[in-house]
Amino acid sequence: MAKLIVANWKMNPESVAAAEKLAKATDTASLVICPPFLFLSNVGRILQKARLGAQDVFWQNSGAFTGEISPLQLKDLSVEYVIVGHSERRQYLGETDYMVAQKLSAVLGAGLTPILCVGETKKQRDSGEQFKIITEQLNIGLSLLTKNLCASKSIIIAYEPVWAIGTGLTDDPDSTLKIISFMKRELLKLNQSCSYHFIYGGSVTSQNVESFLRHQEIEGVLVGGASLNPAELGTIIKIAERYS
Ligand code: 13P
Repeated sequence: MAKLIVANWKMNPESVAAAEKLAKATDTASLVICPPFLFLSNVGRILQKARLGAQDVFWQNSGAFTGEISPLQLKDLSVEYVIVGHSERRQYLGETDYMVAQKLSAVLGAGLTPILCVGETKKQRDSGEQFKIITEQLNIGLSLLTKNLCASKSIIIAYEPVWAIGTGLTDDPDSTLKIISFMKRELLKLNQSCSYHFIYGGSVTSQNVESFLRHQEIEGVLVGGASLNPAELGTIIKIAERYS
């Protein structure tokens, strides 16, 4: 597949006008833009080439769940991708692996493509627990999948080590490759009929993106801070196109 670039705007920018401006400036094929929920509708109207993604979702399609957004509501706004289990939601909002599992199957159930984020903290990496944590995140996160759900869409797994997010530190691409082949082995054990794609996230910039994307096994990147800068994102996309 062409390398996939996912722009996670997180809780940025501060206004609809600024979101529209950023969407216009970065609208490119092979890009998925994930703005805050509040801007999905306006950004969706602007995009001609990029596809629309959401940063989160709730696991029910409708009902009394104050403040939540359902997969069907996202679908109605032409959202195609949904990030689930981002480490910031796990860390600040107490999302558990089981909540992530419910979200992931709801996303697939609505015919959308989930981007499941996994990754260890610095402490977990330093104490040698990296593989154990990722195994847990995969085993529980994917525990509600069924053959039917898997038949509809593929699942994108984003390896985002927590210590690399917003810190300017990146994983060593060789270590990312090791994690990806480890995850592939774990997923085989789960014996599901889903197909998976693997991307990397954590302080991706135009300076380091090539060191990841030149590897066939790394099928894209999830970009936070750098996706808010159109020139920077433009360079990342140009580099990605060389490897697509
Ligand atoms: P940064 O690119 O800002 O490190 O963020 C990565 C991320 O969390 C994307 O989801």
